[in-house]
Amino acid sequence: MEQHRNTLDVEQLEQWDKQYLWHPFTQMKDYCDEKPLIIEKGEGSFLIDIYGNKYLDGVSSLWVTIHGHGREEINRAIINQVKEISHSTLLGLSNVPAIKLAKKLVEITPDGLDKVFYSDGGSTAVEIALKMAFQYWQQTSPIKKEKHKFISLNLAYHGDTLGAVSVGGIDTFHTLYKPLLFSTYRVPSPYCYRCGLGKSYPSCNLDCLNQAEDVMKKHQQEVAALIIEPVVQGAGGMIVSPPGYLKEIRRLCSQYNILMIADEVATGFGRTGTMFACEQEGVVPDLMCIAKGISGGYLPLAATLTNEEVYDAFLGEYRQLKTLFHGHSYTGNPLACNAALASLDIFEKDCTLEELKEKICFLEEKLKPFLDLPHVGDVRQKGFMVGIELVKERDSKESYPLEEKVGIKVILEARKRGLIVRPLGDVIVIMPPLNISCEHLERLVEIVFHSIKEIASS
Ligand SMILES: Cc1ncc(COP(=O)(O)O)c(C=O)c1O
Repeated sequence: MEQHRNTLDVEQLEQWDKQYLWHPFTQMKDYCDEKPLIIEKGEGSFLIDIYGNKYLDGVSSLWVTIHGHGREEINRAIINQVKEISHSTLLGLSNVPAIKLAKKLVEITPDGLDKVFYSDGGSTAVEIALKMAFQYWQQTSPIKKEKHKFISLNLAYHGDTLGAVSVGGIDTFHTLYKPLLFSTYRVPSPYCYRCGLGKSYPSCNLDCLNQAEDVMKKHQQEVAALIIEPVVQGAGGMIVSPPGYLKEIRRLCSQYNILMIADEVATGFGRTGTMFACEQEGVVPDLMCIAKGISGGYLPLAATLTNEEVYDAFLGEYRQLKTLFHGHSYTGNPLACNAALASLDIFEKDCTLEELKEKICFLEEKLKPFLDLPHVGDVRQKGFMVGIELVKERDSKESYPLEEKVGIKVILEARKRGLIVRPLGDVIVIMPPLNISCEHLERLVEIVFHSIKEIASS
């Protein structure tokens, strides 16, 4: 352990952390009982705490740092931009990096998504998509005022603002807020490990889609849009949808005149092995939300993309009030946009997606032994998104009771061994930076394996 701070400094920080900070998605009672882990530096795939201890960053600092920490090119892009200007509003004005990035985003996203509306986080990107979809039907010809409802999936996660929570489907996070939310129609999650129909893929012939179609057929007159996390439902537990599911959802949306919103906040920017998950099934949504990895994980930035048809419905004389009356103080922030441009350059320069292919197969191999562990019920992987579901009873798939906090115990064990990961309930998530070396990837997987073995062995 490198002693690079004096004890007083360290103790002061630890005390102030507990005294002044309220951490997100964190039970502060438990947090305050433990010694906090305070990060001071990042280097490649590693995080370094105030004591100088190094940890592998197994979840890319909440799924964002796709090229790792301290990338010189992104640092430089931010510094160069600071010298020009750090912020100017995008409300009625423009700025250089925001324009260049919008062009680039249109080029790399599925064909037809031609307009970029910036915001600053995944939740805001979703709010904007919902408002755009709603307003589109209020203003397009023929006007369909009654189309103001949304369809979302069970176990969906689209963020924490109230619109995003309304289309969320994770009871633990969302049920309490019900009185504050607008109602939505729910369709089943394609959660094959716990199939609600008791079927298994592929003999099921994607029967869960029949339920989705029933909802669409019945409510098509009132539904503005369906929102979906394409290919992987992230926060719901890294639930990988079976092949063909997304494409069929797209087809049904078109058939029933329902806009399709793809929330690529978690899956975008290479996570599933392609730049965007929609590409895996040749799907073009009507609206697409991107955030997290967009700036390489260096600054908050998000965008909602849509097509000309949706965009055109907002054009008119000012007095007609067809404007999208939405925008944030930091919308299109030049520092964040320049960081994003540098991150996209790295994708090209490092051939990130090409290099990733081999690592995805390597990871797949390394995950195989997990199923030999008695409490591992399911191992789900799509690209560099992995969820390992722990169960109390493998045969019955019985979950652990909440009070056992198994997921939390596993990640604390991993921390002792030099790895930072975060669980989703009892699903252990692995989402490393895309440029992690195979050596570090192997070490990461080994630590998760031994931590699960240690905690969930009996
Ligand atoms: C699919 C999806 N949508 C939206 C969000 C919300 O993003 P943010 O935390 O940036 O608001 C997340 C965050 O995990 C997400 O996974």
